[in-house]
Amino acid sequence: MDERMISGEIQEEDVTIEFSLRPETLNQYIGQTKTKENLKIFIEAAQMRNEPLDHVLLYGPPGLGKTTLASIIANEMGVQFRTTSGPAIERAGDLAAILSSLEAGDVLFIDEIHRLPRSVEEVLYPAMEDFCLDIVIGSGPSARSVRLDLPPFTLVGATTRAGLLSAPLRDRFGVLSRLEYYETIDLCNIIKRTADIFQMGIEESAANEIARRSRGTPRIANRLFKRVRDIAQVNGESTISFETTQRALKMLQVDALGLDHIDHKYLMNIMDSFRGGPVGLDTISATIGEESQTIEDVYEPFLLQIGFIQRTPRGRVLTPKAYEHFNREVPVE
Ligand code: ADE
Repeated sequence: MDERMISGEIQEEDVTIEFSLRPETLNQYIGQTKTKENLKIFIEAAQMRNEPLDHVLLYGPPGLGKTTLASIIANEMGVQFRTTSGPAIERAGDLAAILSSLEAGDVLFIDEIHRLPRSVEEVLYPAMEDFCLDIVIGSGPSARSVRLDLPPFTLVGATTRAGLLSAPLRDRFGVLSRLEYYETIDLCNIIKRTADIFQMGIEESAANEIARRSRGTPRIANRLFKRVRDIAQVNGESTISFETTQRALKMLQVDALGLDHIDHKYLMNIMDSFRGGPVGLDTISATIGEESQTIEDVYEPFLLQIGFIQRTPRGRVLTPKAYEHFNREVPVE
């Protein structure tokens, strides 16, 4: 897959940027008002009872701040933040090792939790519910199960695909929170905060322009900001201007709505080869050479959100809005 400037998925450079920009408290965290309000109350209540927070499932498209929120939860609770991911835990024993190294109250963050193998998931059930590990010792007729107590902990799971989580796992989360695409005003504030941290000036109109083209996603906003800043710096500007921003975004091939060449390829393909659809996901995948799962998780959520495509039982269909964006006529039946 091409490395996309506007992919919500994490890229190598983001790791260091995100770490240094990460807000540490709920008050510093911009946007996601509903999720923040809920978490504030649940955290306060758990602290009053002197208990760990109930397990939390955060879901939504990539780049919206699931990991950041998880680390804020640990910080607000005043506990350690331990992190791993679904694909990194291959065997039940790997998870048992992590769980048995936790300290009371810790937040264990499992990213991409929908990718945990089933055999591993089964170890999680009693751990989440009763804070214990059921370990089988030996094999065959002499095998026996031993129950080990675990310290109480909070599991924070993150996924882009809540629908792929098994029902027993989903049911064990007390708090389910869906992260939404950000409003432009929130992204604008995130960009201004980032500029501040990097000690770079930015005109309001420039921050707003980057925000408008960031597909509702802070990770993209911060990445675009960094590239625009590079161009401003090379030009000897200490404040990022609106003109420089427009020029930079043009160079980066990010259009007025934040769509890039892969979105264009996806949309033009449906427009030109399938008369606007309906067309199945696998057919789109084969014709544009991108994996179905990436199309579904990364490209389509935003196109659905801005009303450019619809998912129907017979496949994807372009809307008149998508045609308008490309100045094309909607085909007549
Ligand atoms: N950086 C990335 N996401 C952020 C957010 N939601 N609030 C503040 N800073 C951020």
